Amino acid sequence: MEDTGRHLLKFKGYYFKRVGLDVDFLENLDDFEIRDDDVFIITYPKSGTIWSQQLLSLIYFEEHGKRTENLETVDPVPFLDARPSHLFSTHLPHYLVPRGLKNKKAKVIYIYRNPKDVMCLYFHFSHKWAENEAKTTIEEFMELFLEGKVTGSLWFDHIKSWYEHRSHFNIHFMMYEDMKKDLINSVLKVCRFLGKELNEEVLDAVVRQATFQNMKYDPLANYESILNSQPEGKRKEGPFLRKGTIGDWKNHMTVEQNERFDKIFQIKMKDFPLEFIWDI
Ligand code: A3P
Repeated sequence: MEDTGRHLLKFKGYYFKRVGLDVDFLENLDDFEIRDDDVFIITYPKSGTIWSQQLLSLIYFEEHGKRTENLETVDPVPFLDARPSHLFSTHLPHYLVPRGLKNKKAKVIYIYRNPKDVMCLYFHFSHKWAENEAKTTIEEFMELFLEGKVTGSLWFDHIKSWYEHRSHFNIHFMMYEDMKKDLINSVLKVCRFLGKELNEEVLDAVVRQATFQNMKYDPLANYESILNSQPEGKRKEGPFLRKGTIGDWKNHMTVEQNERFDKIFQIKMKDFPLEFIWDI
């Protein structure tokens, strides 16, 4: 365990948020019991975690769609380190997830998003989170991101290693930008992967309730409670769901920053077969 002296802790080569980190839980995670019908959402932070949590909640729990229970989006799909369930979300790298997952018992959905947008939204998010003591400029944050000195470590490693180890898992890759462009189709593909059949009416309801507009103004679906859980007086203004668009990086990065990012991307992602959508 390496203490970085910032808001991060490095455990087995991977950076975690210091606040709330349960090291004993992580030490024993390899043995965490995996059931055949477990489903894991895996994301690098800021790649569409809450959106896919919302989708899985709606696909699996009709009450969630009907709002007959006062469930928050995150409740039915908790973070793995939060509490037991059949549906989980996590940002962990492939080598830290429970061993049982590697025996293809559970299903894994890996959501990814173009890393320039990820970096820029992460920059915004880092200013919303009270414990991030060092407030950075986008220039400084880009360096931290490119060095992997952020929760989730290096974006390039995260996606590449999940992809390279895909044959060990029962895994479905889904791109944020594809969800944006054609949510029905993305939901249908996920349902096929999960072996779930939704009739047209339910499918419509799932898609309707997972739109950005719907989630942004729904306090049960927009992580308001998570932002509000920060210490009084330290809360930052601004919603968790900000824009939900493709290509917002163009409003943040300078030409030089973009060129530098491209160069590094080309080296790191050489021969990587998944495509990315950078703008609309
Ligand atoms: P923005 O900052 O562009 O708004 P994560 O949940 O992994 O932290 O990712 C957060 C990003 O996903 C935010 O991006 C958020 O708006 C976006 N997002 C969440 N729900 C969405 C939806 N229904 N449609 C489009 N984007 C969504």
